[in-house]
Amino acid sequence: MVLAPMAGYTDLAYRLICRRFGAEYCSTEMMLAKLMVQDGKLRRRLVASDKADHPVAAQILGNDPGVMAQAAHVLAPMGFDVVDLNFACPVHKALTRRRGGYLMSQPDRAVEIVRAVTAAADGPVTVKLRQRFSDGETNCDAFWRIAEGAFDAGAAGLCVHGRSVEAKYTGRADWEFLVAVKQHFADRTIIGSGDVLTPADALRMLRQTGVDAVAVARGAQGNPWFFRHVRDIAAGRDPAPVHLTAQRELIEGHFAAACDLYGPRRGPKIMRKFGIKYARMHPNPRRVRAAFVEVTSPRHWRRVLEMFYTDRLEDSREG
Ligand SMILES: Cc1cc2nc3c(=O)[nH]c(=O)nc-3n(C[C@H](O)[C@H](O)[C@H](O)COP(=O)(O)O)c2cc1C
Repeated sequence: MVLAPMAGYTDLAYRLICRRFGAEYCSTEMMLAKLMVQDGKLRRRLVASDKADHPVAAQILGNDPGVMAQAAHVLAPMGFDVVDLNFACPVHKALTRRRGGYLMSQPDRAVEIVRAVTAAADGPVTVKLRQRFSDGETNCDAFWRIAEGAFDAGAAGLCVHGRSVEAKYTGRADWEFLVAVKQHFADRTIIGSGDVLTPADALRMLRQTGVDAVAVARGAQGNPWFFRHVRDIAAGRDPAPVHLTAQRELIEGHFAAACDLYGPRRGPKIMRKFGIKYARMHPNPRRVRAAFVEVTSPRHWRRVLEMFYTDRLEDSREG
């Protein structure tokens, strides 16, 4: 079970939380390669590490093979076990700057980047890619060219999201494509991604596609217990319920870790978006979400927890 890279979510604090519940391999969010080659506050925060956070991948985003290689070279000694290349991001800004998913339309450039990075990195290099650039394409030639080229260049594995870049998150991820990828690269490491939204989906993907590991993204937002529930189901147990007191304890720990990582001013602001996601696990998700949205200070944050995270609310589900 892998915690998939998520911009704004898979920071050190959240990775450590997910590991406690069974995420065996985690990734940073995508990090701009050109920011990785110069020291600065943003880089220090993005590359924050901990000896409990292993194995961990540093994911980089960029278009210039030389800069990507330099970034990979500086990241390995910072405590990352793997360098992962993002050829999947569908965000407009990335595409207009010819990064991320744009590279699914430029197989030669993509392979050139993998070659440069594998030559420069001391450790394993992996690639995150999508099925194709556009749904209008009748085949996935670019995917196969990039995948073959990456393995020829020495890549250690691929993480495949079975959607086109243009589709972003619409429609359904094509798990049949994952079957084809795993069959084609039977003795290579393939991680599957896309629409693993429930713990049962994770086991279904493993069974149906034969991938070596399953990456969980949206399903793990605000729900680090996801990983434990997968294990429960795999062992034939009902997923253990997460009581409000346990949710509160975890959220409090996360708040403290975020303040350590981002400082006492930014930490609480960052926690607002996590609080909104944690609200989904609450019996009254809409009210709790609305309360987290309004939070302006650590005191206010504590009040929301005191108000909503007590066992007496356990059974008061929203009608
Ligand atoms: C908020 C958010 C941020 C994401 N950021 C990244 C990222 O930085 N790098 C990346 O490779 N994929 C990123 N993804 C894509 C996920 O890793 C994953 O491939 C995709 O969401 C499909 O998986 P899911 O259906 O389990 O969400 C992001 C997804 C979401 C929802």
